[in-house]
Amino acid sequence: MDELSYAKNKLKIVLLENIHPKAVKVFHDNGFTRLEHSTSALSHSELIQCLHDAHILGIRSGTHVTQEVLAHCTKLMAIGCFCIGTNQVDLQNSMLKGIPVFNDPHSNTRSVAEMVIGLCIVLMRNLFNKNAAAHAGQWKKHSSGAHELRGKSLGIVGYGRIGTQVAILAEAMGMQVFYYDIEQKLSLGNVKSMPSLQALLSMADIVTLHVPETPATRNLINAENLPFLKKSAYLINTSRGKVVDIEALAQALRHKVLQGAAIDVFQQEPADVHKPFSSVLQNMENVILTPHIGGATEEAQESIALSVSQKLVHFINRGSTEGATNFPAICLAPNENTHRILHVHHNIPGILYQINKILSDQNINILVQYLKTNQEVGYVVFDLEKKHDDHLLASLKAIQGTIRARILY
Ligand SMILES: NC(=O)c1ccc[n+]([C@@H]2O[C@H](COP(=O)([O-])OP(=O)(O)OC[C@H]3O[C@@H](n4cnc5c(N)ncnc54)[C@H](O)[C@@H]3O)[C@@H](O)[C@H]2O)c1
Repeated sequence: MDELSYAKNKLKIVLLENIHPKAVKVFHDNGFTRLEHSTSALSHSELIQCLHDAHILGIRSGTHVTQEVLAHCTKLMAIGCFCIGTNQVDLQNSMLKGIPVFNDPHSNTRSVAEMVIGLCIVLMRNLFNKNAAAHAGQWKKHSSGAHELRGKSLGIVGYGRIGTQVAILAEAMGMQVFYYDIEQKLSLGNVKSMPSLQALLSMADIVTLHVPETPATRNLINAENLPFLKKSAYLINTSRGKVVDIEALAQALRHKVLQGAAIDVFQQEPADVHKPFSSVLQNMENVILTPHIGGATEEAQESIALSVSQKLVHFINRGSTEGATNFPAICLAPNENTHRILHVHHNIPGILYQINKILSDQNINILVQYLKTNQEVGYVVFDLEKKHDDHLLASLKAIQGTIRARILY
């Protein structure tokens, strides 16, 4: 069902910021040949110039798609953010122009999980200090304070995508795994749920945090509950900086309330690699600090490239908006021998009625119709039984409140 109403080789796809070549392959494999691929981000004016006739834009975090940029994009159909965040795009104005913005925040799940296991080993063997000492000419060959992971207990706070992956890997290492989650979860393997955060903190040799940043998780680990940790315990945070009261943690580490910590995420993080970084945890010998790299691997980049480019292709070919951050999500399988039309409109009463009236007045039977709305826009995908005449699209576009309408095939 790839007989689109427009030629695929005419569709201009702009990929900026050195997006992984797997994305280019996905577009090529699907017949899209008009690709412009740049290794860097473009300046504001270059971006406007480049996008005036572009249909699809792929970016990472360095390209800012502002309201002004969007105002110049007369043909833009969709944006793919080949990264985790989407705040570099004006999501609201994209939505109001009928442009879905896709990303994939979960392609790096495995990368984070693997780093957590690595940190567990590095902490339990004190490898970071022994490495620094060896570089400084000291031969710290002793086993005191160095431990295997096997048989130790791992406490996971937040048994979601990353938490479950960590648990699977940790069990394979011979650890006893426990978790605390506010939701009822199906435990995998021999992993056991704990009734409270306090109960989990009290029994774990290593505690690792995998919760989202929400008002409820702000300072989830704080001066009140840090003392529940064993004195020999380690804390790992690869979730979000605000989840740990960092001053309280620094204090607890100084007073040996716990053995050590590995922290990858911070309340204040530098905006880019050129800005300086500072933290109260710097220069503490029982702390590993990393620059928010839990999910930063080449494999995760490749996985993001595949996932986001496939979402864009599904949108172009089928009208599917599943995985868009700013748009009502519709995923409709292609229907043989039908004609598909997409209609995006402001979420005001009566639009569906008007669409259906136009179709029934033209004696066109609707085989499938799917409407999804959010507070501001509505998105309808409908499959028609017979070929429509050229006026149908114009009539649909003329409905008051229409943002855009498109005949897909
Ligand atoms: N360091 C990095 O580079 C990196 C990369 C990817 C994700 N992350 C972060 O990792 C975290 C987890 O990501 P995920 O994809 O596993 O999320 P997820 O949504 O799949 O799982 C989060 C889990 O936490 C649970 N939860 C929410 N509030 C809780 C609370 N107060 N107490 C206990 N459990 C609670 C949820 O029920 C859910 O099961 C997020 O904060 C994400 O931003 C960091």
